[in-house]
Amino acid sequence: MLRKTLLKTTMATLSVACLIGQANAATEIKISFNQTDTNPQYLGLVDFGKRFEAATDGRYKVNVFANELLGDQRTSLELVQNGAIQMAMVANPLVENYDANFRILGVPYTYKNLDHQEKVYTSDIFDDLFKETDKYGFKVLTVYTAGARSMYTKNAPIKTQADMKGKKTRVMQSDTMTKMLGCLGGVGVPMSQGEVYTAIQQGILDGAENNEIAYADLKQYEVAPYFSTTQHMMAADLLVVNSDFYNSLSDEDKVAMEKAAKESTKAEFGFWREAMDKAIETAKKGGATFTQVDTKPFEESCKPLQESLVNTPELKKIYEKIQSLR
Ligand code: GCU
Repeated sequence: MLRKTLLKTTMATLSVACLIGQANAATEIKISFNQTDTNPQYLGLVDFGKRFEAATDGRYKVNVFANELLGDQRTSLELVQNGAIQMAMVANPLVENYDANFRILGVPYTYKNLDHQEKVYTSDIFDDLFKETDKYGFKVLTVYTAGARSMYTKNAPIKTQADMKGKKTRVMQSDTMTKMLGCLGGVGVPMSQGEVYTAIQQGILDGAENNEIAYADLKQYEVAPYFSTTQHMMAADLLVVNSDFYNSLSDEDKVAMEKAAKESTKAEFGFWREAMDKAIETAKKGGATFTQVDTKPFEESCKPLQESLVNTPELKKIYEKIQSLR
């Protein structure tokens, strides 16, 4: 009897040890994220994590760090590159600074609407492009929507291009974004997102441009209450992974990671749609006014920029494929 109890206890202890051992053995994957933990992209990343953890039977634990806790996007991309962390979600302009071909993801007035963008983002159109950054030490796994970007200002709404004249507007740090502000009629000031609120408050900027969700989440309506729906660009955010880390995975786990990433893109589009109305309501409650803008003149004056960005056979091919899914 005593032996039996002892045996049972030993076995129980062993299996607990096994479980603990397994838990300890889980490899942590850190994902750096610059927005809040209610943002649809955060939910998308959590969705990715769950899928990947399930597909690998808990051998990996995915932790998403929101609110620039691990650094702004530029720093996070560097951390991924040098392997200090495994993954990050970064805006396409930052990747464009490594590989200029990524400008194709930031061409103004490319998509008809969110449905069109979803068709493109869940297709294989960018698969070859996404492999191109391996030589810099990171891989692009998938792309998330960040809605359409519009202008918002401190003192008066933008209705026409004339209203943009001389207005200093924060843009994400890339050549294309600065040029885009130019074709819209204003002056682009590259800056990281975390500095925008104070820069507008202090009058260093006249405004910024972003989607409704970031506008509401970051409470930027408090300093720039005039939101004008120029919708000049449907932005892309990229999920990147350190190449050495990715290459250290078994073939099976690599497939699982790519699959989980692609599936999370689809989920993120759903989260995005769900969050939009609430973001607009929050901003309005906080004092924002939304002005509907005739986008045609803006679109027209950005045509030359469009053409100058889509200027190689490779990029023309991608652009045509995007348009074929309209
Ligand atoms: C969007 C985008 C972010 C980006 C931000 C910005 O919210 O999703 O990736 O950081 O714009 O303007 O910097």
